[in-house]
Formats: sequence, structure tokens, C-alpha cells
Amino acid sequence: MRQLLRRATRTLSTSTKPRLAALRETLARDAAPKPLPDAPENARSFFVETRGCQMNVADSEVVRTLLRGDGLREAESASTADVVLLNTCAIRDKAEQKVWTRLRDLRGRRGKEGQTVAVLGCMAERVRDDLFRDGLADVVVGPDAYRKLPAMLRDQGQSIDVTLDRSENYADVLPTRVEHTAHGAFVSIQRGCDNACSYCIVPYVRGRERSRSVQTILDEVASLYDSGVREITLLGQNVNSYHDATTESLKQQPREYSTGFVPFVKSDKKDSQTGVRFAELLERCAAAAPDARLRFTSPHPKDFPDDVLETIARVSNIAKQIHMPAQSGSDQMLRRMRRGYTCEAYRSLIERARSVIPDVALSSDFIAGFCGETHEDHLRTLRLIEDVGYDMAFLFAYSSREKTPAARRLEDDVPSDIKKKRLQELIDAFRTGREARSRERVGKIHLILVEGAPRRDRGADLVSGRDDGNRVHVFPSSLPDGSELTPGDFAHVLVDRAEGATLIGVALRRAAGAGDRPLVDAETGAEFFIDEQTGASRW
Ligand code: 5AD
Ligand code: SF4
Repeated sequence: MRQLLRRATRTLSTSTKPRLAALRETLARDAAPKPLPDAPENARSFFVETRGCQMNVADSEVVRTLLRGDGLREAESASTADVVLLNTCAIRDKAEQKVWTRLRDLRGRRGKEGQTVAVLGCMAERVRDDLFRDGLADVVVGPDAYRKLPAMLRDQGQSIDVTLDRSENYADVLPTRVEHTAHGAFVSIQRGCDNACSYCIVPYVRGRERSRSVQTILDEVASLYDSGVREITLLGQNVNSYHDATTESLKQQPREYSTGFVPFVKSDKKDSQTGVRFAELLERCAAAAPDARLRFTSPHPKDFPDDVLETIARVSNIAKQIHMPAQSGSDQMLRRMRRGYTCEAYRSLIERARSVIPDVALSSDFIAGFCGETHEDHLRTLRLIEDVGYDMAFLFAYSSREKTPAARRLEDDVPSDIKKKRLQELIDAFRTGREARSRERVGKIHLILVEGAPRRDRGADLVSGRDDGNRVHVFPSSLPDGSELTPGDFAHVLVDRAEGATLIGVALRRAAGAGDRPLVDAETGAEFFIDEQTGASRW
């Protein structure tokens, strides 16, 4: 049925598409939240190991649902499972090397006799049947073929499916989430990538960009919220280019790019379509989970028109935090990387974000030693890191990936020891900036979502949690009114000191939810809140 529907959608005129989309949504809703019965003790068991990004974490949750739906039960560990599934990453060579090592381990002393090993995800898509080499894998499945997995596991013997399907988004599969993250959950809203960053393997292993329909996302967000989840992260490889053309928009806007950005791949036809875009989706998700904190990752800087920045600023339960991957501070490198912006355009976007969203936390990704990178290019990246002062950064040495435009056309000419040295310099610059940012937090009140269970330390029960900017805070679990904070609670925490990247403080009061921020006195900049009992403003 679903296959037929998919094929029909591709060939039908646009006027019938909305009706089909509605039918697809009805199907999805009917299929969605039925709890799965527990499989009997003697059922075949499986264990999923996940590497790579949050998208893979979310996909593993889909895979768990599909396998449980087929009567398999989850094993406690890989060594006791009948089937081990490795959900893999292909972004850098190091990630792949670790998978090869793990596969050899599983076939050696760490595996169980007769165990089936399935390789899923990005490396499965890239390496394909080479994974059968030396009998390391039995089953190889790419990111768009997980629905076939139960049948492939039933047929014993080697099998492979790495078909990329540009309509697959698993919208109807309710992910089986891991219990220890009960207060936080990922919701996948978009898959694939239509950008053409020259270094990146993602478009080749994850296929074309596609967005899930608004209603299926809202249903999932609302059901997570009802089940007690208090932090929801919307996920996509290119999350802020989200676009659901089948759902009527309240805004009716064509696509807008960030000022000064000229994306390498633009589609005038698609860009002029209306439908729901990212800012509108964000706001609707925030409304569907009113007290929960909403985040999103991973975005591209090109898709931050003012509309998105203003939505983040205005909607109280959207975290005031943006990941803004720069990759380099040199125009020459940015051009070679095909990022579609200059360093100046990126810097103005950062300024714009900071002026629209006061105190926004910023993070970024950087690549050291890309093809042709000179010492001057490197210094420009260092300067960018120093000037911006990121709260978080993910820094990598360039790793050439076969088939990418950079591997085909550019020379990977920065020697590996120079790459390492430059990477270390970027890390040091980032750490220095982060320490300064952490010190700025001291004496301020933050809205924290309590995460871990209390642990006893120096005579007090301490809990930890994160603020909007994802900074870790540690503080005693008891409040001045004598009550105790537990995971899933929001609290206003006054920071007393910074220890490296961790902030140590005291909890002042329980907060009502992710939108209950401390108030700020416009004249003095001092933070305060209103005491519910006395009505007085206090700190
Ligand atoms: N080498 C090193 N880092 C890479 N990234 C993507 N491709 C490569 C590569 N070939 C980094 C980018 C991206 C992050 C997810 O991984 O910084 O934003
Ligand atoms: Fe790795 Fe990219 Fe695949 Fe995520 S999408 S698992 S980062 S290759």
C-alpha cells in the first residue's frame, strides 16, 4: 500500500498531491502510537550500537521499533544478542576505521557463536558489499532501507540493500527511545542534503533532501510532551532548510536565505513555492510542547533569514542557542569548500543573531587543513574563533572522502602533522574563548533543565543540568523552600563560579517550564524574578 502510494505521489499532478498527503498522514496516524507487545523470552534477540551524529541515534530508535514490531526482543548487550546491528558513520576515515575494528572484534572473541552482524547507516551506504569481506558483515543496509531490515534478517544468509529513496522519512514509525534520556528526545524532521560542500560525504550516503509533513511532526512532539519529555531536539542534516510544500502555511512566504549568502545549489522553482518552512514549524512545535525546551540541529548558516532569528528570540520555550557551522575563516577556503558565503557575510550573520537574540549561545564546526590551506588561511580561522567567542565548537582535521568533489578535484596537500598542529591551535583558541564566556556567566541566573539523578558530593546531594546554551551546571538538589529537584524539573540557578566549562551554583527556585526565564531589569541589566508568595521581585 505504502509503495503504491509513493509511486502514485511521484506521478500525480500537484493538485491531487495535498489529498494524497492527507491520506498518507491518516495512514501514518493510524499506524503510529500503538505500544508494541513484549516479545517472548525465547524470541530472537538484537542489540543496536550507534556511532556518528544524533541523526544516527534517531535512526537507531526507528530500527528498534521495526525489529520489535517483527517479534524480536532487545538483548542486554552485544555479546549476548543473536543479531548485532552497527549503525555507522562515514564522515571521516577515523570513524570508519573504528567500525572495521569493531567488526573484527565481533567476529573474534567478543562475538557470540553464530551471531548475525548487520552494518547500517552511512558507512553501509558508502562501502557497500566490501563489508562482506572476510565474512565481517552478514547484512548491509543503507539509511533509507531500514523497513526491509526485518525481512532481511529473517532470510538467513548475506543480503544488502543500499537503495536511496527520496520519499522515505519514516514518518509513521514511532521511535523506541532509550530510557536514560527520558527527559530529552530527538525528533527527526528532515533527511538528506542538497548542499554541495565539496568535502562532505553526506549527500552521497544520505541522498536528497526531504522533509517530513508538519502534522506527523506535531503529533510526535505532542506525544513526547504528554509522556513527560522536557527537551526536544528537531533533527535534520540541513534542519533549517525544512520545507513541507503539502501543508498550508499561515505565512505563505517563498524561501529566504540569510543576508549576503549565495548558496551553491539553488532551486528557483522550489524556492518560490509556499508551504511550511522552518520558522513556522519551530513555532508550531514550541506551541505543541509548551513547557518543554525546543532545540534544533544541524543547520546551515545560509538558512537563517530574520524570520528564523526573530522566532527564536520571540518564542519563550525555544532555546536561545544556535549552531552556526563556519568551517573556515578564510574566503579562499570557503570558496573551495563551496559554502556559499564569505567570512564577512558569516560575521554579519553572527552580529545579526546576537542583536536579535540577546545573549544567544553560539557553536560552530571547523575543519583544519583543508585542500590548499595556507598558514594565512589558518590564521584567519583562528581570528574568527577568537573574535566570535563560541560557547561550543566541534573541530576536525580534514579527512579526504572518496567521490566527494574535493577528493576528485582538489589536492589533499596539507601534511598530516601540520593538520594536527593547526587543529590543536584551533582547539586552544576555542577553549580560551569558552573559558572567558564561562566566567561571564558567574553571578547570573540561568534556566536549567535538571538531567542527572542526584549524587552525593562533599556532604550535599548535587544534580546537574543544562542551560539554554547547553552549558553544564552543577548545584545542590535542594531548594530554599526545602523541596528537592529531580530530573525533568526546570530551575533558576545562580552561578557562583566556573570550573573549566562547568558552572557551579545554587538553585534559587523551581521554574514553571522552559519559557519561565528570569526577568531582566531594562535599566540595570540585573536579573530578577517575582516571588509567587509575596509578589515582590527578588533575586
Ligand atoms: N573531514 C573533516 N571534517 C568533516 N566534516 C564533514 N566532512 C568532513 C571531512 N571530510 C565536519 C564538518 C561538518 C561536521 C559534521 O563534520 O565540520 O560540519
Ligand atoms: Fe556521520 Fe554524517 Fe552519517 Fe551523521 S550523517 S552518521 S555525521 S556521515
